Amino acid sequence: MNRPRIVDRPAFVLAFRLLAAFLACVPLLILAINIATQSLGPDPGQEVTESLGLAAFQLLIVTLAMTPLKRWSGWAGWIRVRRMLGLFAFFYAVLHVLAFLQFILGWSDLWATFTKRPYIVAGALSFLMLVPLAVTSTRRMVKRLGKNWKPLHKLIYLIAIAAWVHFIWQARSDIGEMVAYGLVILGLLALRWKWNGVRGLIPFARA
Ligand code: HEM
Repeated sequence: MNRPRIVDRPAFVLAFRLLAAFLACVPLLILAINIATQSLGPDPGQEVTESLGLAAFQLLIVTLAMTPLKRWSGWAGWIRVRRMLGLFAFFYAVLHVLAFLQFILGWSDLWATFTKRPYIVAGALSFLMLVPLAVTSTRRMVKRLGKNWKPLHKLIYLIAIAAWVHFIWQARSDIGEMVAYGLVILGLLALRWKWNGVRGLIPFARA
């Protein structure tokens, strides 16, 4: 009988999952250190909000990269961390929105707050679409939704685009970084198009 490859052994996959969880916590650790050492600069509230938003956005992109990595490497370990990374992205997005309310615009008249500027509307749309994905990410919900799960979770592509629009719309100067993120998202979406056709990218459409 063939012995499983080292990378397929449960202990290796577990170690990989722990590493991924640790890496996903790094932005929070850095933020905690910066708060503890009071190194957040002249506007700590803004800095906290921005760093949490950036962590949510980066983790969203990393989550989107898991399927291509699995296809290229043939290793299922990438998919074993996908849901966890997506949930971390949601976790950071929740903290980002809470920080925004707490430190920037306050808790009164939420409708006026979220519709104040176009870039905030884009962020709010991205966040609202993330909620059903987080809620339906448990094993039980995957089972319950059956073949409707995948069409729903294709919302992730729209979420990434809305988050990117939110990101680039608020840029005051140097947009090089935003353009680079945009190109990565475009590349990841183009791969889905190549593999599954355009319907593979459309939320709620059955591929
Ligand atoms: C209700 C939802 C949201 C609100 C109200 C909101 C609000 C904000 C605000 C006020 C900023 C700082 C803008 C500035 O520098 O003046 C920001 C930055 C940012 N947000 Fe959001 N956001 C929301 C959702 C999201 C979501 C869902 C993501 C990603 C998944 C995201 C990613 C980002 C990124 C990447 C930045 C830029 C950080 C940087 O400059 O390094 N936001 N957001």
